[in-house]
Amino acid sequence: MPHVDLSRLDEPLAWAEPYRAKMVEPIPVTRRAERERFIAEAGYNPFRLRAEQVSIDLLTDSGTAAMSDAQWSALMLGDESYAGSRSFYRLRDAVRDVLGFDHVLPAHQGRAAENVLFHTLVQPGQVVPNNMHFDTTKAHVQNRHARPVDLGIPDGRDPQSTHPFKGNMDVAALEVLLEEEGPTAPLVMLTVTCNNNGGQPVSMENIRRVSEVAHRHGALLFFDAARFAENAYLIQQREPGYRDVPLSEIVHEMMSHADGCTMSAKKDGLVNMGGFVAFRDETLYRQASSFAILYEGFVTYGGMSGRDLDALAAGLREVLDEAYLSSRVGQVRYLWEQLDGLGIPLVAPAGGHGVYVDAARFLPHFGRDDLPGWALSVALYEEAGVRATEIGTVLAGRDPETGEHDYPAQELLRLAIPRRVYSFRHMDVVAEGLRRVWERRESLPAYRFSYEPPVLRHFTATFEPHPVAVHP
Ligand code: F0G
Repeated sequence: MPHVDLSRLDEPLAWAEPYRAKMVEPIPVTRRAERERFIAEAGYNPFRLRAEQVSIDLLTDSGTAAMSDAQWSALMLGDESYAGSRSFYRLRDAVRDVLGFDHVLPAHQGRAAENVLFHTLVQPGQVVPNNMHFDTTKAHVQNRHARPVDLGIPDGRDPQSTHPFKGNMDVAALEVLLEEEGPTAPLVMLTVTCNNNGGQPVSMENIRRVSEVAHRHGALLFFDAARFAENAYLIQQREPGYRDVPLSEIVHEMMSHADGCTMSAKKDGLVNMGGFVAFRDETLYRQASSFAILYEGFVTYGGMSGRDLDALAAGLREVLDEAYLSSRVGQVRYLWEQLDGLGIPLVAPAGGHGVYVDAARFLPHFGRDDLPGWALSVALYEEAGVRATEIGTVLAGRDPETGEHDYPAQELLRLAIPRRVYSFRHMDVVAEGLRRVWERRESLPAYRFSYEPPVLRHFTATFEPHPVAVHP
């Protein structure tokens, strides 16, 4: 099993965690026979497992971060005044300093921020281009009876392409769409990093060009900023001319091209719950305030308690720490390199918040209806007590018109790594678990639905093992 590469000692903290434990949470230890029973009782759906049945939980990097001592102490400063709390102003100042947007409306999480923004900007019949909509973002555009359009570059849909910025938007395609739809596209969105294709970053050059095209056509540019810090770090590492630019300046430059952002603070806010929508323009902020009050709460708390606003204000300032981001993204790369070394097919290159296994190439004898990503998630849990999630046919759901599976571009298994929670040694365990699954890949069962709910089926569906269909 590979060990920490001490030859990288000269790379500041890329080889280890730049923090130490002050409080610990025991990890449940289970035996294989127990895990086989647990997952069967859960209807072969990892979402239905109890957390106490999971040893290493890579289901999501959302809301699963460990807060710092500074954040825990910030909680004690929480001001629970209904209106105008000190906590709100500390958050507003953090958003101004870190992102450069003057106006902020707290919201209880990312999708709530999307709801407020789209009620403000999007009318029925309009179109919203994005490099790649996250599921809730897409659903909120549709909820406004508007049309979400994914305009990522073709490399972004090819798991084997090693393009350094697979989150980029196809600028030519955007130009064509806006020529045709100009007046009906109120805003363009860029998701940084791009979650659904592997935590892949958007380059500064692409941000600049997308901003120019959007504004020329009278559309605003908003970031889905859930993983803005990881995107900034990957710009620093990969884009010519940015190696020596401080991360705070990179973030300012990114945001300078946009009119605002939505934020799921459960990711790069380093908190367990929270979000916001931020604006450069005061008029827009005023319009959005009505919807924030309607859906979330008064403009200075928006669904969050004062103490949580304070923890978020502290988290936003911490997340750009170079040692943290270097270790964070380094840990993702560490797991990626181990799995790649074993010959396991992955989405390349390593992204910002997780490793994405290419389930279609891992199980080439599976058809799509055999649910390869789902089968891998069950096998990995049985093997090592590691919980991960399919990003493939099950997650994509059915086409509402035809009722057929809405097959996505890729069949993936996402190993999302929580922030500041697991050690590099935990990554070794994940790699060993997946190595064992890889060795018995030819004997893994397929899965079929035994219960399929009509919407967001992956959360509550149950499955049964099934022989792999023979494909011509
Ligand atoms: N945008 C992106 C890019 C996301 O990844 C998420 C959530 C959201 C918006 C919605 O934010 O959950 O706070 O309402 N992603 C989680 C995940 C759920 O597991 O990737 P939320």
